[in-house]
Amino acid sequence: MAGAVIILAAGKGTRMKSDQPKVLHPIAGAPMLAHAMRAAQSVEPDAMIVVAGHGAAAVTEAVATIDPDAQVVLQSEQLGTAHAADQARSALADHDGDAIVLFGDTPFISPATLAAVFEARNAGADVVVLGFEAADPAGYGRLIQNGGQLTQIVESKDASPEQLAVTLCNSGVIAAKSALLFDLISQVAPNNSQSEYYLTDVVGLANQQGKSCVVVECPEEETLGINSRQGLAKAESVFQQRARLAAMEAGATLIDPDTVYFSWDTVLGKDVTVEPNVFFGTGVQVGDNVTIKAFCHLENCRISDHAQIGPYARIRPGTSVATGGKVGNFVEIKNAVVEAGAKVNHLSYIGDATVGEKANIGAGTITCNYDGVFKHRTEIGARAFIGSNSALVAPVTIGDDALIGSGSVITQDVPAGDLSIARGRQANKPGMGRKLMDRLKGLKSSGKRP
Ligand code: UD1
Ligand code: CA
Repeated sequence: MAGAVIILAAGKGTRMKSDQPKVLHPIAGAPMLAHAMRAAQSVEPDAMIVVAGHGAAAVTEAVATIDPDAQVVLQSEQLGTAHAADQARSALADHDGDAIVLFGDTPFISPATLAAVFEARNAGADVVVLGFEAADPAGYGRLIQNGGQLTQIVESKDASPEQLAVTLCNSGVIAAKSALLFDLISQVAPNNSQSEYYLTDVVGLANQQGKSCVVVECPEEETLGINSRQGLAKAESVFQQRARLAAMEAGATLIDPDTVYFSWDTVLGKDVTVEPNVFFGTGVQVGDNVTIKAFCHLENCRISDHAQIGPYARIRPGTSVATGGKVGNFVEIKNAVVEAGAKVNHLSYIGDATVGEKANIGAGTITCNYDGVFKHRTEIGARAFIGSNSALVAPVTIGDDALIGSGSVITQDVPAGDLSIARGRQANKPGMGRKLMDRLKGLKSSGKRP
């Protein structure tokens, strides 16, 4: 039993100084809200409600792509966290289980921690609050305990000096039976320095009703809340640190881990080696025994087993490099298939193309895929050999085993097995080179110009 998850995401995030709602700012390529939702998904909730307010249209659109089953409810005025959670009341009217409240700007709560919160509920606590020992508690709500009982949460703006000395802080995560939670929320009044409806007040109210309230603790890193661009950068670095460790634990070699950047959805196989300064944009899947050499940028692509990429390669969306394919230095590949064993080793642009099995693309080959208005495809057959510095003007098809002379501009299809040369024919003029040079030198020595 996992219950329902309510994610509060209506706040403006004033300190971000942004036109974009705070929860849509990305960490590792995905909105911070997506990270919070992913954590929530790990407990297999029977409902997920996102409370949107600022930028609700954009938030609604993002939620639909992250989890089409999640529901968005609107908080049109931001009157506080209790008021925000209350917006989920009618969506959960028939809900019989637990409700757990998470914050959209607190993306790193781990599945294990959420499981521990539910465990504490199952062990009999009426209300469970997730807390953490804060290195710097400034700004956080303080958890006031009496023995094992959580008696009160005090916001720092409303706390006494003794309460401010408490370092056990509120993460914002709170769980209770849905009916109890909404019953307590309806009793919350905005009697505080900010005149807001504080969700934290439900703890004091629960105590008045003789309910048991407990704290489950987690590491501070998990409760990292993002309020500013600095906070966003800190969150990014926390994510990257974890992703690097996870990649190594799963069997990848990172020569200089601190210089490798992952996306939230990067998938690496086993025995992958990633050299320094590699950036994985979103949607990258890498098979086993792949080497990605230094200074590569990859995005929305699939790299199959035993392929070699880089150094200095840019792999753009829609690309797949099949088993044993090689993409070398200063090569850009976009929306293209590089079939098994094919090589694009030096200084090329391959876009909207198929490079057949074991084909060899010479240095400096360009697929001219764009006519200024439309994009066109280039098909290169198996074992074709494209001479260096060729331009393949799409749409064009090069057959299997075809051979293209270096420096060609290919505008017509080349049948399988043919040799095609499309460039000015070479003309050698016997002795002309030396003769011309002697004449020029003669002019110079007599002070003249040609
Ligand atoms: C809140 C907690 C505090 C805790 C801290 C942890 C309360 C009163 N305080 O403070 O105890 O230590 O989080 O980070 O709950 N939101 C809405 N609608 C609103 C107000 C807020 O959706 O009307 C959302 C925000 O978008 C955000 C979350 O609730 O995702 C937290 O709100 P925020 O204003 O950041 O609360 P804090 O002051 O940080
Ligand atoms: Ca906050």
